[in-house]
Amino acid sequence: KGVARAKGGRQGEVYLSVDEYADVDWDKLGFRLMETDYMYIMKCCQDDEFSHGHLNRYGNIELSPSAGVLNYAQGLFEGLKAYRKVNGNGFLIFRPEENARRMQIGSDRMCMPSPSVEQFVHAVKQTVLANKRWIPPPGKGSLYVRPLLMGSGPILGLAPASEYTFLVYAAPVGNYFKEGLAPINLVIQDESYRATPGGTGAVKTIANYSPVLKAQMQAKKKGFTDVLFLDAVDNKYLEEASSCNIFIRKVDERLVSVEDLTDADEVFCTGTAVVVAPVNSITYKGQRYKYNCGEDAVSRKLYKSLTDIQMGIAEDKKGWTVEI
Ligand code: COI
Repeated sequence: KGVARAKGGRQGEVYLSVDEYADVDWDKLGFRLMETDYMYIMKCCQDDEFSHGHLNRYGNIELSPSAGVLNYAQGLFEGLKAYRKVNGNGFLIFRPEENARRMQIGSDRMCMPSPSVEQFVHAVKQTVLANKRWIPPPGKGSLYVRPLLMGSGPILGLAPASEYTFLVYAAPVGNYFKEGLAPINLVIQDESYRATPGGTGAVKTIANYSPVLKAQMQAKKKGFTDVLFLDAVDNKYLEEASSCNIFIRKVDERLVSVEDLTDADEVFCTGTAVVVAPVNSITYKGQRYKYNCGEDAVSRKLYKSLTDIQMGIAEDKKGWTVEI
């Protein structure tokens, strides 16, 4: 199997001459880090604009011990996926501009400069193309692309960092949950909360994620797939699971209370990493509620419709995919 070789090109761009596929057992992909060939890096100072982005070999980065991100969690992340087209020609990235816009909203909340939408999308495309041998064959998974934005400059007192780093890396992934495509089992716990009014729950800051680990570990020890969190004010409206959003089959968009779960036909989780995962059961205060996960479930139809668009099997009538 071949090794990726950089072959010059314009500054900041790498053209690869490689075997089509990396040496990976594509049938055994899960959601684990597999180091790929290249990452994209772009820096800027506070009150300045990002420029001079370029691809580097994938590897460790050097950070000051007093970097803003390490001391005060001044950081955001994104997640998006690239698929190999079924006909074998080219790759599809799913809605990268939306991730770019979300990072811009988050960077305002976290007092960080952010790349423009064009810079973000360019960086994602470059990262995907430079790592294209890691994009799984159609039907086996996708290349998960992880953009990061962080305060990389040193800071001691609490203040925005003096320098910022935008970094994009990628890894081939299969199904997120160990259950694969099988329905998952959630547990509601009301001892800790995902988001609070006025907090950062509405943006994708890195610090929103580690606080769920304790509840997640405890749930996994009891055999559940994931935790479903309630709102912090009324302690009764569904918020989200640790790694994904939640839908219950009802046609309107509104606050959904725990009581609504008792008469729902169907429940499913969605997310970039998770895609669409049918929920088999939700346990709340020791009571287990079961849902339809059969062949007729809406979640199964949604999963197929979405992944068919992402892989180029179905026509993309909404202009969601970007072809490279
Ligand atoms: C994603 O779906 O991309 C996320 O950000 C969730 C993460 C925990 C994998």
